[in-house]
Amino acid sequence: MRVAMIGTGYVGLVSGVCFSEFGVDVACVDKDQRKIDRLNNGEVPIFEPGLDDLLAKNVKAGRLSFSTDVSDAVKEADAVFIAVGTPSRRGDGHADLSFVYAAAEEIAKAMDGYTVVITKSTVPVGTGNEVENIIKKTRPDADFNVVSNPEFLREGSAINDFMRPDRVVIGTSIERAQDVMRQLYRPLHLIETPILFTTRKTAELIKYAANAFLATKISFINEIADLCEQVGTNVQDVSKGIGLDGRIGSKFLHAGPGYGGSCFPKDTLALVRTAQDVGSPLRLVETVADYNNQRKQKMAERIITACGGSVDGKTIAILGLAFKPNTDDMRDSPSLNIIPVLQKAGAVVRVYDPEAMVEAKKLIENVEWCENAYDTMNDANAVTIVTEWNEFRALDLERVKSLLKDPIMVDLRNIYKPEEMAASGFKYTSIGR
Ligand SMILES: NC(=O)c1ccc[n+]([C@@H]2O[C@H](COP(=O)([O-])OP(=O)(O)OC[C@H]3O[C@@H](n4cnc5c(N)ncnc54)[C@H](O)[C@@H]3O)[C@@H](O)[C@H]2O)c1
Repeated sequence: MRVAMIGTGYVGLVSGVCFSEFGVDVACVDKDQRKIDRLNNGEVPIFEPGLDDLLAKNVKAGRLSFSTDVSDAVKEADAVFIAVGTPSRRGDGHADLSFVYAAAEEIAKAMDGYTVVITKSTVPVGTGNEVENIIKKTRPDADFNVVSNPEFLREGSAINDFMRPDRVVIGTSIERAQDVMRQLYRPLHLIETPILFTTRKTAELIKYAANAFLATKISFINEIADLCEQVGTNVQDVSKGIGLDGRIGSKFLHAGPGYGGSCFPKDTLALVRTAQDVGSPLRLVETVADYNNQRKQKMAERIITACGGSVDGKTIAILGLAFKPNTDDMRDSPSLNIIPVLQKAGAVVRVYDPEAMVEAKKLIENVEWCENAYDTMNDANAVTIVTEWNEFRALDLERVKSLLKDPIMVDLRNIYKPEEMAASGFKYTSIGR
């Protein structure tokens, strides 16, 4: 079995490395020459725990290679995965499918013998039909099937999510293509992972419905947190109380600054647009997307309020920039909403993230880049925890107090206990408590 992985980003690289770990020969392709050069030098261009070791092991075993040449990789492949980006289209929020379509055309030109073309990128329902049309038009003689196989991995635990997923969804009604997919995912079948075969369009919609549901769950508990603040209850206790109900479940019930990342914001919006286009609007998801945007903006106001109503001329320390811990992904991170509002209000902002500084420097301007958590707080008026990296969970509170001009902490991830912070002399604000 030979696989070509088109697109070597968070999903393509992890999927490629994991398939090679399953014993399959994988050729990873990306049009970004620098990314491929780094990979060929043994460097991993993203931060994902455990990926470097697994990658090195499979390169050494001769099962994993990297290049910018789609043609060579595809010619040899039984299965070609499309794992390119599907960002929000500027202006209207639809998924931008230009990368997917360009990849489909390149694949079509290079295909040799029966090939299964698999969309792993998150794509709106019906995209598989379009990919099929493009390939047919480019290569009327080609022998192929197009399958949808959406990816559910989470950055930060991507390898485990890929190797031990809750389920694998495979969208195709064609038996020949199903056989190839079955063979590819055989190691997961052996560990009794549920493998759901369904139609291509259903598989495409499952991915969006899953993300929209999770985004809704997060927004639900965030809105309950707002209510808790008004009525004087603790959202963590409410989460626990509802999460123990098996119908609800305890995951994704952590109140915070609003969801970010490379998937939920763009995928909720794209789903809303698809639904509007076909005259079946998703009012709930529309509200969730709006609420979440407003929430992220409001987090800066919360910091300003904690500082007595003004941050003009004050220095604010920000701990954590990535949208969640254990990743360097900055896409749609709440920090990107918070920092500009603070700056506009006259604050000097000092920032630190354990892994996302390189990515953050591409997106954030006019801040003071710091070496570590304590350096960030040096002479600051207040500290805000935006991302709950482990190293922020056990700060030396006496040291924090000695560094800050005023012992103000805004904990947007609820990692400290209000009573303990009050006892330690902090002016402490958190979420929904
Ligand atoms: N990041 C996640 O956690 C996650 C999880 C599940 C699904 N997804 C979906 O997977 C897809 C990929 O996401 P990502 O985060 O890996 O994106 P990414 O931006 O990290 O990577 C995409 C890569 O594709 C490359 N590329 C674009 N066009 C190409 C072409 N024609 N040939 C070769 N390479 C090309 C880009 O250079 C880039 O390196 C998206 O549709 C996303 O919604 C992402």
